[in-house]
Amino acid sequence: MKGLILSGGKGTRLRPFTYTGAKQLVPVANKPVLFYAIEDLVEAGIQEIGIVVGDTGVQVREAVGDGTRFGGRVTYIEQDAPRGIAHGIKIAQDYIGGESFVLFLGDNFIRDGIAAQVAAFRAGDINAQIILYQMTDPSSMGVAVLDGANRVVRVVEKPKQFVSPYAVIGIYMFDQHVFEAVNAIRPSPRGELEITDTIQYLIDHGHSVRAHLLDGWWIDTGKMADILEANRLVLDVLNPRNEGDVDGASRMEGRVVLQKGAVVVNSTIRGPAIIGENTRIENAFVGPYTSIYHDCLIRNCEIEHSVVLENSKILDTPARIADSLIGRNVEVTRTGGQTKTLKMMIGDHSQVGIL
Ligand code: G1P
Repeated sequence: MKGLILSGGKGTRLRPFTYTGAKQLVPVANKPVLFYAIEDLVEAGIQEIGIVVGDTGVQVREAVGDGTRFGGRVTYIEQDAPRGIAHGIKIAQDYIGGESFVLFLGDNFIRDGIAAQVAAFRAGDINAQIILYQMTDPSSMGVAVLDGANRVVRVVEKPKQFVSPYAVIGIYMFDQHVFEAVNAIRPSPRGELEITDTIQYLIDHGHSVRAHLLDGWWIDTGKMADILEANRLVLDVLNPRNEGDVDGASRMEGRVVLQKGAVVVNSTIRGPAIIGENTRIENAFVGPYTSIYHDCLIRNCEIEHSVVLENSKILDTPARIADSLIGRNVEVTRTGGQTKTLKMMIGDHSQVGIL
C-alpha cells in the first residue's frame, strides 16, 4: 500500500500566514501539521509516500526532504493549479501503479493515527473506505448518507440542507478502481474534480465503499480556531522535556517542553506549553496552551493560549496576549513615551484586538 498526501491548495482561510507559507506547514505544538500525516502513514506501515504539491512546493520539499527522517520515502508530484482533490489522485496514477493507497489531505489532523483504519481496509474485501466524523453541522464538508446496514449510499459535497450528521474527513483508502472514477467525473460548479463525486461514482458503479466511524477527534486545521484547538489537544499529551536552559529565577509549572537551545530567564512558563529551538523567554509569563516556535524573542510580556510562528518578537506589551495566532517574522512592541502606544507591523488581512 502507498500513501498520497495532498499539500497544494491556497489556504485562503488562514491568510495572511498562507500568503508566504504553505498552510500544511503551520505548526501544531511546534511541528508542521503535514508532518503528523507523514508520521501517521509510516506508523500504519506505509513507507512509500507521494506528496502532491502546488505553489508552495519549494517550501514543502525543503521541510520534508526525501522522507528518510520519518522512516519513509517521499516522491513529489507537481499539480499545476488547485483543481480538486480528485485531480490530485488523477495525476498520481503513475506513481500509485496498481497498488491500493491511503489519500491524506495534508491539513487534516487526527490524534489517534490511522493504523486501525488501514488494518481494517487491508483485511476487508472492499474497494474504498471513508472515515466519518459525527457533527451537528457538517454543512462545510462532504457528508455521507448511510443505509440501515451502515453502508454508504450517498455522499454530498457541502449540502445546503441537512442530510446526515456524518462528515467525511480527509483520509480515504482506495484500490485501483478509483482511477476509473477520477478519469470519468467532470468538474463541479466550483471548477474542481470533487472527491465526493469520485466516491459517488464508485457507489453508483457497484464498487464497495465502507465507512468507519471515528471515535477519537479530528480537526481540519484550515482556520485559526482550529489551529488553536489542535495545538491544545497535542500539548495536553506532550511529555515534559527540557533540552534548553532555565535560570534560577524562573519557574516551570506543569507540562512544559523546552526544545534545544531554548533559554528562559526570570520568567514563568505554565504548561502545557512548548518553547521552540533557540527561542528566548525573558521577564515574561507564558501561560497554558501556548506554543512558541523557533528563534523567537518574548520579553517583558505575558502570553497564553496562543501560537507564535518562527522568528517573531513580542516585546514590552502592556496587556496579556491571549487566543492569538502570531505569524512568522512578526514584531509586536510598545513604543516609548508618556502614553501607552502599541507599535505593530501587521500583514494584510490581519485581525488585531486592542483594549
Ligand atoms: C474537502 C472535501 C470534503 C471533505 C473535506 C475534508 O473540502 O471536498 O468533501 O469533507 O475536504 O477536510 P474543502 O477543503 O475543499 O472545502
